Amino acid sequence: MNSSDYYERLDLDYDEERLIEESLMVHYDPFQTGKNTDSWFDNQKTWLLGRVNDSRLTPETHRLKKMIESRTGSRDVRPRYYVQEKGSSVPLHRDMNTECSLNIILSNRAGPILFEDIGEVVYRCALLNTTQRHGVPKFKTERLLLKFSIFDKTYDEVRKGLRDLVSTH
Ligand SMILES: [Fe+2]
Repeated sequence: MNSSDYYERLDLDYDEERLIEESLMVHYDPFQTGKNTDSWFDNQKTWLLGRVNDSRLTPETHRLKKMIESRTGSRDVRPRYYVQEKGSSVPLHRDMNTECSLNIILSNRAGPILFEDIGEVVYRCALLNTTQRHGVPKFKTERLLLKFSIFDKTYDEVRKGLRDLVSTH
C-alpha cells in the first residue's frame, strides 16, 4: 500500500464562493449513525451534517455531483456539507456503507485528515478512501467541508474516472 491507496489530491475546477453560499442553504443536524448506539457518533454536538435536499438551491454542488457521476458511472453520489466546531475532533472510524468520497474544504483554514496507517494529510480537494480508518484531529478554527459520498463504486474505480484531475504537485 502507498499513499495513493488512501487519497489523491485533485485539481478540480469549482466555484468556492458559490459553494460557501450554497452551504448556507441547507439545514444542519448533529451527525448520527441512525442506529442509536452509545458511540461518540450518536452523542456529539460538534459535528453537524447538512443534507442537500433541493438541488435547485445548490446548483454548483449539483453540477459537481453530475460531473462525478458521469466520469465514474456512479448512480449514488450524495453531496453533504459538514461543519466541525473549532477545537473539536472526529474519532477514528470507517465511513458506514461508503466506498470513497470526494471532499472539498471550504473554510479558509482547516487541519488535516488523519489516516491511522499513514498519518496526517493536508488537502483542499481530494478523493479519499473512506474504507480506511481515519479521523479529524482538533484544530483551532471551524472546518467547513463539502463531501460527495460515493456508495456504489470503489475508491479504485472512482480514481480511474478522475485520473486526469489527479494533482501532480
Ligand atoms: Fe469519515
